[in-house]
Amino acid sequence: MNPFAEKPDKSAALFCDWKALWPEPYEKAEVDPYTRTRVILMTGTEFENVWFGHQLSRCTADRELCRRLAAIRRSEQQQQKLLTHLKPADETALEHTIGYEQLATDLTAHLAARVQDADVKAALDFALLEDFDHLYRYADYLDATAGQKAEDLVGHYTEIMPGRPTVAHHRHPYDSIRRPLNGKKAALIDVLAANVITAAEQQTMNYYMNTAALWPDETGRRLYQEIGMVEEQHVTQYGSLLDPKTTPLANLLWHQYVECWLYWSCAETEPDARLRKIWERLLEQEVLHLHLAAELLEKYEGKQWRQIIPQPEFPAPLRLESNIDYVRGVLEATVQNTADGEGYCDTSEKQPDTFKEYQQTVNTPLKNVMSHRVIQQYIADHGQDYRWQTAEHPVPELRARAKDNTALGRP
Ligand SMILES: [Fe+2]
Ligand SMILES: [Fe+2]
Ligand SMILES: [Fe+2]
Repeated sequence: MNPFAEKPDKSAALFCDWKALWPEPYEKAEVDPYTRTRVILMTGTEFENVWFGHQLSRCTADRELCRRLAAIRRSEQQQQKLLTHLKPADETALEHTIGYEQLATDLTAHLAARVQDADVKAALDFALLEDFDHLYRYADYLDATAGQKAEDLVGHYTEIMPGRPTVAHHRHPYDSIRRPLNGKKAALIDVLAANVITAAEQQTMNYYMNTAALWPDETGRRLYQEIGMVEEQHVTQYGSLLDPKTTPLANLLWHQYVECWLYWSCAETEPDARLRKIWERLLEQEVLHLHLAAELLEKYEGKQWRQIIPQPEFPAPLRLESNIDYVRGVLEATVQNTADGEGYCDTSEKQPDTFKEYQQTVNTPLKNVMSHRVIQQYIADHGQDYRWQTAEHPVPELRARAKDNTALGRP
């Protein structure tokens, strides 16, 4: 599909009434786990569009352009609100968090397997192991506090076991900046992947930021705080992949194109007929946004959309699905890696000074690292940690279930 070739209904209202923002939420016990993750992904994509629109408007002197940006943005906000309402009120913040980390795992693995640029793939593989580890730590906390098995929430599609231990994720900010894509040469899938994952990680960062303040218990507040800091690193890393030469309205065009591809992907892969209708309706709105963005690009920057997106045909749909073997392979090969400048190194061979110093600053004393305290407490109470594995852990150091590993991948 080429969304530029679609004829949007330009007379269609950009805005809807309140009732249209109140779709029936999904049933938390029955929802397909990947429907839950699609809702999270698109909520975060809409937030990115809203937030990008605000930043763009604040740097724009032309009031007419600001008004037209405000109109598109108001529509994005209504979409965001509609999607937020799909999460049922009885799904707790921690249950929903399992969906966030399942999304981070399976979205990242899917994109990593598809991208062409070696730097983009390396960034995805690198952060993959960290969100995978977060899933395990939140899952243990969920079982400890609510007696609930996260394996049911993830539908046995995603394993729950240690990844790169969270204590090793805390790195100096200088080591989060990667080489950016060159938009003129980059493959379409690489540009899409960098934009999609940046928005998804940003959504996670914001969700943990807000949940840390609202969570009723001190352990949980600290856990969300710590993992939220790792998400800041992930957002910095992925944001640094985006082509910095993209002009403001070309960037607006890309934002709308990404939304079109994602809603089309959601519609193509959604098993729930009711949800599929929602994805299709939102896709129609996005096609309209895309055409409005193309008009603004032409009027204010004197460029045609073809100069920005010369091959507009969508690549195959983004699929949220099980990636167990892929994740195991990356674990086995790179669990000990850390970031080193714009690249990576194996901590068993080299430990950058920035990493050592930052680790020393934030992780002292080690007992205050809450992501590990929750596992140690779980082991103290139950004799071993909570996991859901399909086979033996691929990393020998992470097989022991009665002892939490705080040494792997760090000084
Ligand atoms: Fe949107
Ligand atoms: Fe993340
Ligand atoms: Fe949009």
